[in-house]
Amino acid sequence: MIKKAIILCGGTGSRMFPVTKAVNKQLLPVFDKPMFYYPLSLLMLSGIKEFIFIINKGQKENFLNALGNVDDLGIKVEFVVQSKPRGLPDAFVISEKLIMNESVAMVLGDNFFYGSMLSPIIKNSLKNHKGCNIYLYPSNNTSAYGVVEFNSKNKIKRIVEKPKRTDSNLIITGLYVFDKEVSKYAKKLKPSKRGEIEMVDLINIYKKLNKLNIVKLGRGSAWMDVGNFNDLHSANNFIQNIESRQNYKIGCLEEIAFNNKWITKENLKNRLKQNKINFYSNYLKNLITSK
Ligand code: DAU
Repeated sequence: MIKKAIILCGGTGSRMFPVTKAVNKQLLPVFDKPMFYYPLSLLMLSGIKEFIFIINKGQKENFLNALGNVDDLGIKVEFVVQSKPRGLPDAFVISEKLIMNESVAMVLGDNFFYGSMLSPIIKNSLKNHKGCNIYLYPSNNTSAYGVVEFNSKNKIKRIVEKPKRTDSNLIITGLYVFDKEVSKYAKKLKPSKRGEIEMVDLINIYKKLNKLNIVKLGRGSAWMDVGNFNDLHSANNFIQNIESRQNYKIGCLEEIAFNNKWITKENLKNRLKQNKINFYSNYLKNLITSK
């Protein structure tokens, strides 16, 4: 079982200037929670309790404020500052010591996942893990993402970043699991034409070694990269729609920790004290009284 995960919350956020000039992208609200709550909640739902946040210089305080006291969430959080946005796999280089030679998951701080089948699928893929796992999702906007192409025998033909043309509709979402060799391979990567070391190059190393596992997230789930205004807007509407119809929250960290039995009602009461009276604190109050 994978115990640790990286939440990638650095980068320049240049696609969202001027909004992200003063605020880190992953701290922006997506409906009623900070953006990074959603990828964090996905991994908590999958049973992971230890997190390494990769952040920009000067941002630790902001993330700590947004998280509140993590002891009351039953999780452990460490921070690593990325001095420059050298590319996604840089996370495995700069947090090598904290990974401690074990398999590790990584999720991008601007990725939103939703669906009742997701956490069983992901949980299952975290068991007896070997090599590298990537999680694919159908998309009509393949030129914006990493893409996996298959041949007629359904074998992987090519893995490529932001292709201008492709015959595949399967993109690589921002969730990955790697074995303990990942930092070693990440150190060997050379920057691409856009000046960053690339996830697809790291994934291709595992493909060459025959150690790449593919998990397809079905069309019954939702995935969005909310690091641009249109998809952020869609995610706001999506979450507002589901939450207001069901009266359940998506990505409520306290609820997940409580249902996982990582925290008690006392912890929920402590979290309540940190929230002013609003819809979120009313939701926590209901959790305390309903069980
Ligand atoms: O969203 C899925 C896509 O994410 C994948 O399909 C692509 O293969 C992968 O390369 C990535 O593409 P993006 O162009 O969307 O990556 P972006 O530059 O937006 O960075 C993703 C997140 O990682 C974002 O929250 C910022 C953060 N980041 C980025 C870089 C380059 C860092 O923390 N450090 C970095 O050095």
